[in-house]
Amino acid sequence: MMNIIFLGPPGAGKGTQSQIVSQRLSIPQISTGDMLRAAVSQKTPTGLKAKAYMDAGELVPDEIIIDLVRERVDEDDCRNGFILDGFPRTVAQADALAALCAVDRVVNIDVPQERLVARISGRRMCPDCGAAYHVSTHPDGRCGKCGGALYQREDDREETVRNRLRVYEEQTQPLIEYYAARGLLVTVNGDESIERVTEAIAQAVERT
Ligand code: AP5
Ligand code: MG
Ligand code: ZN
Repeated sequence: MMNIIFLGPPGAGKGTQSQIVSQRLSIPQISTGDMLRAAVSQKTPTGLKAKAYMDAGELVPDEIIIDLVRERVDEDDCRNGFILDGFPRTVAQADALAALCAVDRVVNIDVPQERLVARISGRRMCPDCGAAYHVSTHPDGRCGKCGGALYQREDDREETVRNRLRVYEEQTQPLIEYYAARGLLVTVNGDESIERVTEAIAQAVERT
């Protein structure tokens, strides 16, 4: 049983790393961003409420996101643990999670601010399998895993990215202190190759 949180600013590599580590540990990746994007494209009631916040780079209200996560961690495939990618993002969400289940490790992926904008503005996503790439490594616009035609996320435009970074600093960064105070935090240097970051994370989660 291993309940892990990946913390970090937009573009830190939470999605990239949680996909890899999820396969390695055979526990699901729970990305609230991916869940919300699916809800938006299916026009569910949650998606309709969330869209305007996401387009503006603001956080979706806590009640909506906490309900989503509560239902998800209750599913069968989570019984041996899970990786939360992009949740919690506020102290209220962290408190709600603490009431739901134990947290074993919080991995804080640290990347200097000036790197983040370049990473995010070059990001391309696979609509079929959810993999994230960068234009510099995948200029042909095809997914390396399944061949899907890559697209750019709506909220990856520069204006919105700057607001997402501001929102991260104001609302999510306090969680670093929150989890450090509870003895759960491990910070890894995310400004390395994808492979090296994966190794650092593997060491961090095995050190329990
Ligand atoms: P979400 O989808 O979670 O976006 P985010 O937090 O802004 O994070 P990103 O997905 O942009 O970055 P990432 O860390 O996953 O980086 P990635 O691996 O893709 O949330 C979107 C929106 O949904 C929010 O703005 C909010 O509105 C809403 N939302 C979601 N959760 C919420 C919550 N809990 N509460 C309220 N609202 C919520 O990598 C980025 C790029 O860098 C890629 O191109 C990748 O190829 C590249 N890259 C990755 N690693 C490396 C490396 N080591 N070296 C070089 N390049 C790398
Ligand atoms: Mg992500
Ligand atoms: Zn794909």
